[in-house]
Amino acid sequence: MRKAAIILAAGKGTRLRSILPKALHPICGKPMLGYLVERARVAGCEKIVVVGGYKIELVREYLKSLGLGASLVCVEQKEQLGSGHAVQQAARALKNFQGAVFVFYCDTPLISQATVKELFKNYSSEKTDCTLLSVELKQPFGYGRVQRGPSAEVVKIIEENDATSDEKNIREINVGCYVFSAVRLFEGLKKIKKNPQKKEYYLTDIVEIFSQSGKVGAVITADAKEVLGVNSQKDLARVEEIAQKRILDGWMDKGVRIRCPKTVTIDADVRIGQDTTVMPHTVLEQGSVIGRGCKLGPFARIRGNSRVGNHVVVGNFVELVRTTLGDHTQVKHLSYLGDASVGAYVNIGAGTITANYDGKNKHQTVIRDRASVGSGTILVAPVVVGRAAVTGAGAVVTRRNNVPDRALVVGVPARIITKRHLKRHPRNL
Ligand code: UD1
Ligand code: CA
Repeated sequence: MRKAAIILAAGKGTRLRSILPKALHPICGKPMLGYLVERARVAGCEKIVVVGGYKIELVREYLKSLGLGASLVCVEQKEQLGSGHAVQQAARALKNFQGAVFVFYCDTPLISQATVKELFKNYSSEKTDCTLLSVELKQPFGYGRVQRGPSAEVVKIIEENDATSDEKNIREINVGCYVFSAVRLFEGLKKIKKNPQKKEYYLTDIVEIFSQSGKVGAVITADAKEVLGVNSQKDLARVEEIAQKRILDGWMDKGVRIRCPKTVTIDADVRIGQDTTVMPHTVLEQGSVIGRGCKLGPFARIRGNSRVGNHVVVGNFVELVRTTLGDHTQVKHLSYLGDASVGAYVNIGAGTITANYDGKNKHQTVIRDRASVGSGTILVAPVVVGRAAVTGAGAVVTRRNNVPDRALVVGVPARIITKRHLKRHPRNL
């Protein structure tokens, strides 16, 4: 069966009190919207329609960065007239599409892939017009309640504002994740009336329409965490904590050793090889990729798409940004390497700094294989430290004064002492 998805992301997220649209608030470094795009993609949706509104240009820019081409489109909801109205905006983009349509809300990023699959299974095996996801909460306040009839069939969804005090006691709530028959969805939307109180078109009103003239299914998930909606900064923190735990558990399952996980931060888009040990208070961010058998931290920070090879040590109080380290390289203590390309078997002494920023531009530092950078060296970029070259402790290598292969430089500014030191140097290979 053909599948498509609509992701609602037009809301401003007033309660977050932020100038960034809600959909782009990151959870473990990845915008919330990205989680839903991934769910839709992995579920096999041939087309994903994101409904943007508030600061749509930022939403478009982010979606473009995902590089999914024409299968991912963004349509505009000019006025935020409710979730029903928002879904309606996707009608044109899905014209002539016949099949199943998922609807996701961008503020519910913890929904798991397994649950999405489960939802689709119910839709296709029960041949429903709509299958929705629900969960029982001890504190259902604020959510739409799922009302069931005498034979436990779903009758309708009642939003908090419209619920009577009896209805407010219903603990089964609407998560905001559905599968619809595309044709029935766009037919049904036409019948939804403005909610008299909030003056919005509620997507959830379609459930009552279908329960009278069609079939509604519901999948009840047991994991209440999955459905946490993000409305405030506190919700963001809570959801991020759960997402972070999932990421850490995922890497441990793949053979990464994490000491004291509750102190470790790893972004959603980071990759780590087997048998790497991550020591406490280490932060791995922004698409960085770490190889096998490395030792990171404690108190290391790796970001900006850095690439760390295999069997590398990045020790305490070391920061890497946009930096590549070759296999078996060691940066053990108190260093900053920014925009650096470092070869294999390099030793970076304690306190080494790349001065990569001149106040205007960032510049590259290249350190070739088997070089040995002495403690407290400052490398003023752009600069190259040659293969098997050595810098003395406290050397300041100024820009473009490249250190030749095998040379030894010392002092401030660093000057060449010998180019032949390697005859005596143990790293001479
Ligand atoms: C919604 C559901 C509620 C459910 C809850 C789960 C409706 C009417 N209610 O309530 O049953 O329990 O989610 O979290 O759907 N949006 C737009 N355009 C609009 C309005 C909303 O794109 O005009 C988007 C928002 O960005 C958000 C989503 O739709 O991603 C849900 O809207 P929100 O206002 O957060 O609905 P809730 O009140 O949370
Ligand atoms: Ca919400």
